[in-house]
Amino acid sequence: MIAALILVAAYLLGSLSGSLLLGRLRGVDIRTLGSGNAGGTNALRTQGWKFALGTVLVDLGKGVLAAWLALRFGGGLAWLPYAAAGAAVLGHVYPVFHGFRGGKGAGTLVGALLLLWPLSVVVVVGTWLLALTATGYVGLSTILAGLALVPLALLTDAPPERLGFAVAAAAFLVFTHRSNLARLRAGTESRFERVRIWAR
Ligand code: G3P
Repeated sequence: MIAALILVAAYLLGSLSGSLLLGRLRGVDIRTLGSGNAGGTNALRTQGWKFALGTVLVDLGKGVLAAWLALRFGGGLAWLPYAAAGAAVLGHVYPVFHGFRGGKGAGTLVGALLLLWPLSVVVVVGTWLLALTATGYVGLSTILAGLALVPLALLTDAPPERLGFAVAAAAFLVFTHRSNLARLRAGTESRFERVRIWAR
C-alpha cells in the first residue's frame, strides 16, 4: 500500500512541470514555441536563462523529492526508489496537470539519480558536456548521456534493479527524443552554436 502511495505521489510530483508552471506566471506556453518541448533547453531557447534556470531547478527538484520519498518511507524496498524515479519521469513526460503533454524527462531523471546513484550523474553530465561540445546538439547529447547509463551499470556490477532502471531510462530517453532524431535526419535540428567547437 505504501509503495503504491509513493508511486502515485512521485507521478504527481513529476506532473508539476517547471517550464509550464513558470510559463503560466508569464502567460506563455513554451510548447507552442521553439522545439515545442516543455523542458530546460527550450526554456533557454525561447525565454532566457532565468526562466530556464527556474525550469531546471523545479524539474531536478521533483526528481530528487520523488527518490527521497521512496528512500525515506519505502521500507527499504530496493526497487521502489527506482520505480518512484520512473514514475516521476513519466509524470514529467505525461503530466496530469498539463494535458499529458510535458517534456522529455532528462532533468527529472538526473534529479532522482543525484540521490539514487550519484556516480551516474558525474558520468551522465560528463558525457553530455563532451557530446554537446563536440556536436552542439542538445537532444543528441542527452540521448548519448542516457545511453551511457547502461555500460556504467554493467561495468560497476550494478544490482538488478539499478541495471533494469538504466536500460529502461536509456530506452525511454531515446523514445522521448524521437522528434530530435527525426530533425537530425532531416538536417533541421537546431544547434547551440557557441558550444560547438569540433563539428564545423
Ligand atoms: O531534454 C531535452 C533536450 O535534450 C532537448 O530539448 O528542446 O532541443 O528538443 P529540445
